[in-house]
Amino acid sequence: MEHNFDIDDRLQVWPNALGFYIHVSKNSVAVWPSECYEKHDVIGKILYYRMRMITSPENVEFILKKGAKHFLLDDLQHRLLEPALGQGLILAEGDKWFSLRRQSSRFIRPTCLDQVADLCKNAAQNAAHQLLKENRPIDLVLAEAFLKIFGKAFFDATKEDTIGVSESVEQYIENAQRVAVSTFLGLPKFLSLSAKKQLSLAHSLDERFDSALELRDLKSVQPTKAARRDFVINLMTGYKTTSVAAFWTLICLAKAQSHFEPCRIAGEKHLNAPDENKDYLDGAIDEATRLFPPLPLIMRTPKSDILLPSGDIAKPKEKLIISPWIVHRHKLLWDDPDRFIPLRHLEGDMRAPFFIPFGMGARLCPGQKLGTFALKEFLANLLQLARPIADFDKIKPKGGFILRPDDNMKIKWQKVGKA
Ligand code: HEM
Repeated sequence: MEHNFDIDDRLQVWPNALGFYIHVSKNSVAVWPSECYEKHDVIGKILYYRMRMITSPENVEFILKKGAKHFLLDDLQHRLLEPALGQGLILAEGDKWFSLRRQSSRFIRPTCLDQVADLCKNAAQNAAHQLLKENRPIDLVLAEAFLKIFGKAFFDATKEDTIGVSESVEQYIENAQRVAVSTFLGLPKFLSLSAKKQLSLAHSLDERFDSALELRDLKSVQPTKAARRDFVINLMTGYKTTSVAAFWTLICLAKAQSHFEPCRIAGEKHLNAPDENKDYLDGAIDEATRLFPPLPLIMRTPKSDILLPSGDIAKPKEKLIISPWIVHRHKLLWDDPDRFIPLRHLEGDMRAPFFIPFGMGARLCPGQKLGTFALKEFLANLLQLARPIADFDKIKPKGGFILRPDDNMKIKWQKVGKA
């Protein structure tokens, strides 16, 4: 059953409030009962929260795109992310969101991407070679690899700078977890040492990135200071999501070994003569991202009573959960939802609202192009060097904000070809 990526720890019924809390804090993708994968728009009630697991295509499209103005980001999203990400683009709403989105998208618009493509390619090639020398858990190594790829591509930093940036970012993120705990406990900000430390870490990151921006010709973009800080933070979230996408693609190829060679050959062709058409490696990346979406939960809440296309009325405070994890494995939306079939992305038209790893509508991930570009460059290089070997049955996907493996995973590498 090399193609089967079934996850067999689904609950049979909705847990009670305590059970929900325990499950969700351990694993945000294991808490949804089987019916969510079998019926559309299932409702669950946990204490005073009403949750609607939105999966019907017309409702997904309405909430994220056509009727997006009727919805806000969910409060839980704010509480979880604000300590680490501040009030920037990812959590902004209304006019503030619009202005930040416009400014920040200037950094990642196609012309900017063209400017950084070669740097990104070189960095991806170096990162692939470096990875095979590492003996640390693979998720850490991949995260660092993508931080360096994005750091190099955007800031063209020297080797030392890039490592410094990577260390600062790691410290920032680690400390953010502590700030989150102190916020959760309701400590006032002036009492929280972590919050003070976080501010000083944020300033030092700003300085590093400001001086790195000076080095590159991104001054013409003229962002405000807030937009610069925000871009740094976006990059921090972006490198994590992209590195877990790489991780899950490698895990899929490690289990479904018969797909390795077609991916390696496609990667070789891509490195020698890139072209616009999707190839087998793109199919495998898409399929791994379908089965293991790096951001497994998107949440919205209605501003006021709103009639959904399905005929149901969603109420304010209701949590509307649009989970790429569930949508991508839903029995009414996919044939053989748990099977790894890269060809389905090359033969069919796998698009939103069925396939939503990058979200949809106005808040569609602005880093999609950069992320997929870096991901393919990195994997195309890596697969020329080695074949990943791992025991999938020992790996349990663990959802938090990001979908990670639940343990310190190591992948073994079997050298191939000229390596
Ligand atoms: C494989 C890699 C990635 C995946 C799967 C991914 C996924 C997503 C998803 C699903 C959303 C929508 C969230 C929502 O609607 O609430 C999102 C938003 C976002 N992503 Fe990504 N992302 C990736 C890479 C990146 C990269 C490389 C960057 C930055 C360079 C980035 C920056 C952002 C930002 C700033 C937002 C918020 C946009 C907004 O609210 O207007 N992402 N991402």
